Amino acid sequence: EKAGFEHFMIKEIHEQPKAVRDTLNSVLKDDRIDLSEVGLTDEEIKKISQIYIVACGSAYHVGMAAQYVIEDLTRIPVRVELASEFRYRNPILDPEGLVVIVSQSGETADSLAALREAKQRGIRTLGIVNVVGSSIAREADNVFYTLAGPEISVATTKAYSTQLIASYALAVQFGKVREQITEEKYQELIAELKTLPDKIAKIIEDDKERIQWFAAKQANARDAFFIGRGIDYAISMEGSLKMKEVSYVHTEAYAAGELKHGTISLIEDGTLVIGILTQNHLYEKTVSNMVECKSRGAYLMGLTTYGHYNIEDTADFTVYIPKTDSHFATSLAVIPLQLLGYYVSVAKGLDVDKPRNLAKSVTVE
Ligand code: M6R
Repeated sequence: EKAGFEHFMIKEIHEQPKAVRDTLNSVLKDDRIDLSEVGLTDEEIKKISQIYIVACGSAYHVGMAAQYVIEDLTRIPVRVELASEFRYRNPILDPEGLVVIVSQSGETADSLAALREAKQRGIRTLGIVNVVGSSIAREADNVFYTLAGPEISVATTKAYSTQLIASYALAVQFGKVREQITEEKYQELIAELKTLPDKIAKIIEDDKERIQWFAAKQANARDAFFIGRGIDYAISMEGSLKMKEVSYVHTEAYAAGELKHGTISLIEDGTLVIGILTQNHLYEKTVSNMVECKSRGAYLMGLTTYGHYNIEDTADFTVYIPKTDSHFATSLAVIPLQLLGYYVSVAKGLDVDKPRNLAKSVTVE
């Protein structure tokens, strides 16, 4: 059932172009986004005052990325919260708001409890869920099903990618309905969304071997720091979690500008620092944070888009991804980071698909 792949994780990494395409196609009609299956009308979309995205683990990281995209395209304020925090803090919820629960399994105990908490307070809830008929899918007022298919590996890859696409579709459609983006921009964004599956496939194809080589070299790393700003910070969080959960390397994600408020004291000769630079307006800022790490001896990997070749003046190893609209960069940049986590785990001979101490679906609080 691994279809010739050594592990489910790498099989599922390869399934991402299809999973993303299927999920996107499920809400595309004549090259426009149609949320009628999800059950949100234009009138309802116009009234949303505030969005609360609540989730755990990688699904929370989707929320972190989605926050930037939704706020920028719709100008609706977005707050992202860990389900295990949200449910216990007596949250203040605007009655005209929308609570979005993101979950692959639809059974995560804290996410389900957060959903129930929100419903009890009479606020509308939307689930972005992969498993059909799961508790969150059944109990949420509206459901946007991701079409990732069954995900076996404990470390999520394809479900995460489909959750991202679902959140982009919501952002673009909400932006259009609320007249925050022009018709021309709307069409441009949809056209760009449609290119993502092929770009993801190309990254897997082009980078697999190089990243495997790099991962083998880094297999003995004790720590790794993933840094970026804005959307690149959200990507850092997912890259960091991917690597730590399957390879047991201690990793941290840091907003690049925060490093010098404490964490940079951990950088010493040879410490691996991975800089993520997909956002043009933040590029120089993050490069200068990478330079600061380098002058303390860090070994630098840069992850940026084609064209930014001067990163090689700073980084010791560089991975380039295809250009896309800056809002959607997470979908591309996460792919090399998934591969990196996977191949470090393989190089260390670990149980990739079932890392120690973890369960696929966390049904305890
Ligand atoms: O099923 P869910 O999406 O609700 O699961 C949430 C997290 O448990 C999950 O994303 C976890 O962090 C993954 N193991 C990350 O790869």
